[in-house]
Amino acid sequence: MAASGDTTTISSCTLIGRIALVTGGGSGIGRACCQVLAREGARVVVTDINLQAAKHTLTLLPGGQQHVVVAMDVSDRRSVEDAMKSAQDRCGALPSLLVNCAGVAIAAPLLETDDDSWEKNIGVNLTGIFLVTQAFATSLLETGRDSKGAVVNIASIMGKTGCTTMSAYTASKGGVISLTKTCAAEFARRAIRVNCVLPGLIDTPMSAGISEEELKNIMPLIPLSRSGRPEEVAEVVAFLLSERSSYMVGACVEVTGGYAM
Ligand SMILES: NC(=O)c1ccc[n+]([C@@H]2O[C@H](COP(=O)([O-])OP(=O)(O)OC[C@H]3O[C@@H](n4cnc5c(N)ncnc54)[C@H](O)[C@@H]3O)[C@@H](O)[C@H]2O)c1
Repeated sequence: MAASGDTTTISSCTLIGRIALVTGGGSGIGRACCQVLAREGARVVVTDINLQAAKHTLTLLPGGQQHVVVAMDVSDRRSVEDAMKSAQDRCGALPSLLVNCAGVAIAAPLLETDDDSWEKNIGVNLTGIFLVTQAFATSLLETGRDSKGAVVNIASIMGKTGCTTMSAYTASKGGVISLTKTCAAEFARRAIRVNCVLPGLIDTPMSAGISEEELKNIMPLIPLSRSGRPEEVAEVVAFLLSERSSYMVGACVEVTGGYAM
């Protein structure tokens, strides 16, 4: 595992010849996943609702020429299907690896959660994974049994623990955990492994809004006494996509510095 923030220095190249599609690749954990997967030899399809951000990720990838950027709103079936087709056209083959990382976190106490914020959290974080995984697996399975696939869903430790003021977010992430297990069971015999990662507090734009006071309360609960770096999640994602984790199916791997273990 990389000891520093530089994700391009260690290379075991476990994903050479694979095409990996990453949702939410324009920022934070998704961007780090794109970097680590590219380092491991994969051709990366960087997707995001924010096309500019995805294009910036592309500039950070080793072997820049072979990777592609595609706009995708994971919460919109049409956008997902168009993006999958575009990825296939531009790469000349279907992605066989998928990282479902796109997410939003709109916080509010339950009594103040309105329909829009509930639907946005569920629509992006949970329905998004349903739509993208369905499109990905449908295409991959049509190509025949030989095309081995792997999916990693980014849930959250809060999907297990719950969290005050985060009811819609935590419900969406709890849904991701159970959806992962169901997809894993349905696809295992068809050569697609599905697993998920439960990050704790990770330094990204999403967590930047956490107040000093909230951080003061959280930090003593993390045995490592620090937040995580996006690449520390991405290294686990790369492992779960690779054949090094060939016997892992439906697993929920916590990357939390020991929080809530
Ligand atoms: N940062 C943390 O502490 C933390 C902890 C646990 C889980 N997570 C999860 O990790 C994932 C990545 O979060 P992050 O911290 O990197 O956040 P981030 O805000 O840095 O990145 C999220 C990305 O998702 C994209 N996105 C948002 N809505 C989208 C949509 N409808 N379609 C496509 N893309 C969309 C955004 O444009 C952005 O690029 C999320 O699923 C998040 O819930 C983050």
